[in-house]
Amino acid sequence: MSGPSTYQPQSGFAKWMERRLPVLGLMHSSFVVFPNPRNLNYWWTFGGILAIFLVIQLVTGIVLAMHYTPHVDFAFNSVEHIMRNVNYGWMLRYLHANGASMFFLAVYIHIFRGLYYGSYKEPREILWILGMIIFLLMMATAFMGYVLPWGQMSFWAATVITNLFTAIPLVGESVTQWLWGGFAVDNPTLNRFYSLHYLLPFAIAGVVMLHIWALHVVGSNNPTGISVKSSQDTLPFHPYFTMKDGFAAVLFLILFAALVFYAPNFLVEPVNYIPANPLQTPPHIVPEWYFLPFYAILRAIPDKLGGVIAMFASIFVLFILPWLDTSKVRSAKYRPLYRQFFWVLVVVCLILGYLGAKPAEGGYIIAARIFTAYYFLHFLVILPVLGLVEKPKERPPSISEAVLAKTKSKGGDAQASAAAQ
Ligand code: HEM
Repeated sequence: MSGPSTYQPQSGFAKWMERRLPVLGLMHSSFVVFPNPRNLNYWWTFGGILAIFLVIQLVTGIVLAMHYTPHVDFAFNSVEHIMRNVNYGWMLRYLHANGASMFFLAVYIHIFRGLYYGSYKEPREILWILGMIIFLLMMATAFMGYVLPWGQMSFWAATVITNLFTAIPLVGESVTQWLWGGFAVDNPTLNRFYSLHYLLPFAIAGVVMLHIWALHVVGSNNPTGISVKSSQDTLPFHPYFTMKDGFAAVLFLILFAALVFYAPNFLVEPVNYIPANPLQTPPHIVPEWYFLPFYAILRAIPDKLGGVIAMFASIFVLFILPWLDTSKVRSAKYRPLYRQFFWVLVVVCLILGYLGAKPAEGGYIIAARIFTAYYFLHFLVILPVLGLVEKPKERPPSISEAVLAKTKSKGGDAQASAAAQ
């Protein structure tokens, strides 16, 4: 995975094991001596944070499944039973529900970090595409998990989203009925969503392994975007990056704990505390916050099929991003124009999120159309053109020289101010 191992097994058992299945050597070369660019900043700690959240979701989810009943007549009450009667059940559920939100927060930071520093560019295209596959799987898993408590929003969100498939020409109706396992969202739908919600996180774990494998083949990008040229440019993963990642993870977990213990329902739609009722549509059907920008794009197009195509296309453009960006320079640090468009894109995505939570009418829908158009403009027009017209800033010759230039200028400033005193 990470080149020839320099691992020297110490104990008798480790020596015995290493000759048969060298997992200890693999761990050593991947997470102890693995050379990482020495200038990685805190935005590079989110991959590790994501791995921690994947484990949190798996562990809490498996224990919740021991007490949950996947049947339309019992699902809602079984969740209330977890909240009230199961020892620490309330904590398990709040950890799992808010853990999903933190997971998405971390993944969005991770993705935008990649966009800013050009981490999707050659030679990291496969690493990026594996990341996008993980993102799709995460969305499917979160969507199906949200249906399980069988509250009003669970039911109606499932109804709205599965109904999108009816827009497929000719076969739409049959595909949708096949997905439902009947003629509406009902018990068979809940059962299959439960089964897949349990399965998909393990598929995510598998793709994460490929993601890290691909990362270790090409190595991490870094804030300068300049490739590693010598051993001067890197540091072993342990102890510097294990400590840095650990410190960032603790800060992020404190934020998570604040949410779970002080505002566990902050992100929850109150309507979902009413049991599902197929005869009563709630006034507004809104998805969880992490789906809102995509929901805004879906509703921006007046035609149902058009909306579905636009929504899927908004994710698909990210898959082909490595080939849309024509600039050879990776990091936005040296791309003065791209840097500005990057921040415009961030704001546009936030506005789309805001619009996704508003009713699809009047000024909101017009705004959603404008910002949806801009979203596609960014990827399909601005990025390809920028690479051709932008004049990048001069880059340092190597990572180590970029780091030394920084410390030198700091040292220089200190000397100058000491001399002035
Ligand atoms: C369960 C979800 C994920 C996990 C556990 C995960 C894990 C990691 C880890 C541990 C790293 C190395 C540390 C770092 O650069 O932060 C990494 C790097 C990377 N990830 Fe992910 N990742 C996930 C999702 C994604 C997604 C959705 C994307 C977006 C397409 C993505 C794209 C990348 C890229 C491009 C890099 C290389 C960054 C660089 O070297 O500059 N990852 N990932």
